[in-house]
Amino acid sequence: MHTGARIDTGPPPRFITAPALPVLGFGAWAVGGSGWGGGSPGSDAGHEAAVRRALDRGITFFDTAPAYGDGASEALLGRVLRTRRALVTIATKVGPRDDPRVSLDASLRRLATDYLDLVQLHEALDGWESRLEALRRLQEAGKARAVGLCNATHLQIRRALDIAPIATYQGPYNLFDRDVEQRDLPLCRDREVGFLAYRPLASGLLGGKYAAPPQFAAGDHRSKVYWFKGAEFERRRRAIERLRPVAEREGMTLAALALAWVYSQPGVSVVLAGARSTEQVDENLVGARHLAPDTRAAIDRIVADEFRPARVTAQCRDQASVWGQRERFIVQQLDGRTPYEAIAAAWTDRGEKPMIAAQIKVFVDQLAGQGLTADR
Ligand SMILES: NC(=O)c1ccc[n+]([C@@H]2O[C@H](COP(=O)([O-])OP(=O)(O)OC[C@H]3O[C@@H](n4cnc5c(N)ncnc54)[C@H](OP(=O)(O)O)[C@@H]3O)[C@@H](O)[C@H]2O)c1
Repeated sequence: MHTGARIDTGPPPRFITAPALPVLGFGAWAVGGSGWGGGSPGSDAGHEAAVRRALDRGITFFDTAPAYGDGASEALLGRVLRTRRALVTIATKVGPRDDPRVSLDASLRRLATDYLDLVQLHEALDGWESRLEALRRLQEAGKARAVGLCNATHLQIRRALDIAPIATYQGPYNLFDRDVEQRDLPLCRDREVGFLAYRPLASGLLGGKYAAPPQFAAGDHRSKVYWFKGAEFERRRRAIERLRPVAEREGMTLAALALAWVYSQPGVSVVLAGARSTEQVDENLVGARHLAPDTRAAIDRIVADEFRPARVTAQCRDQASVWGQRERFIVQQLDGRTPYEAIAAAWTDRGEKPMIAAQIKVFVDQLAGQGLTADR
């Protein structure tokens, strides 16, 4: 037992391991400041008010990371949550290149707590297995009640389950970005691993405020996110315009509808919604509900219609015979029917460098620009 470790924290909260109902959690990246443009790291009073509002309105799950504002997000949560520590679940992360013990100790200090409810490896990069083992030892030492993993392939999640008692997996999931539906979510359901959905609002796009590709402030990571520009922005914008009447029928804002869509997906344990103001927190809480099957189906139809997979021309198939292995693999499957998520998952199954649907979309846009796709 290590100094400062607690032995009385009990097992991880049941909703992490065996959720009865999903939970709307607070994603604390944006309130960390850096990477989100506007406001200095963690010092914005509005950010603190947002976290306080979440707590007052009964949100009990808070997700953060040392990388969010270089510790500012954790320090902010520490300030606000310390008075009600026992009532909340705090999840933080360890960077894929950081020393787990050093990183976790620093997080505990910033979060003003002597234990974490959940510590997650932020990404499964080289050497991830040994970092996960280190997290298991830190859990055994009482510094964390549960260990989780983020940003891994389904093959890595399976392997991780042999290394540590993985309680949760955290991956990107919103009504546009659905890679996890192919392998990760079903695996989590089968193995009773809690699934934490991040970027449920597509980093704010699904709030519906962008009529044109936004110009973010300097340093805002969203200026590099591919769906805020080019053909993908335009596809998403069209889909969002068609989703507005669905949200109106439900008496919800677009953001709440998008959150409720994730909340309604089988196997989702926690929807991690980022928010930078009290108003956003209030609005997002409306999304903590199940949508009726016909509403979900209406949303899915709109998305499927705007994201119909491409079919390549015979000329494209000819040209692809001398392209790289990944490109050839994609081209072979661009038959106008197979979803990009399925193509990416089939490639990832091979255990080589993984692929996600976004890469295929960008590639297909390039093919379309060269006239190598048939009309959709
Ligand atoms: N493990 C990982 O690698 C990873 C990666 C990304 C995120 N995460 C976690 O997941 C959490 C959520 O993801 P995220 O914060 O990146 O993205 P998100 O939740 O999809 O989007 C958050 C942004 O959406 C906008 N928003 C929030 N509520 C809104 C509302 N009611 N109406 C309109 N717009 C609204 C705000 O943007 P504006 O501030 O511009 O208004 C907010 O900053 C993070 O905070 C973090 O905890 C984890």
